Amino acid sequence: MSDWTPVCRAEELPPGSFRVVDVDEETEVAVFNVEGKYYAIEDLCTHEEEKLTDGPLEGCEIVCPRHGARFDVRTGQALTPPAFEPTATFPVKVEDGIIWTRDDRWD
Ligand code: FES
Repeated sequence: MSDWTPVCRAEELPPGSFRVVDVDEETEVAVFNVEGKYYAIEDLCTHEEEKLTDGPLEGCEIVCPRHGARFDVRTGQALTPPAFEPTATFPVKVEDGIIWTRDDRWD
């Protein structure tokens, strides 16, 4: 079972921003603040494995820098071609003012 990984202090992630953390030394997880709620997705485009956070964040959508597929950071859903598969989502919690995430896919 994967351990929770600290992301940053809550005040360091204001609405409209994100942080990327390495979880379990194998998964890059991007944690977003969308209008005061936190969401975590794998920082990986499901089209050709580009790093999503190298592209622009527009509201609740992140745009892959390679071919322009859009993903909803709240759900991981691919919204536009050429990506069709969702990227993974992860749980987020706030404890003692710290934001945490973990990779629960293999639990
Ligand atoms: S690699 Fe992301 S849209 Fe092609």
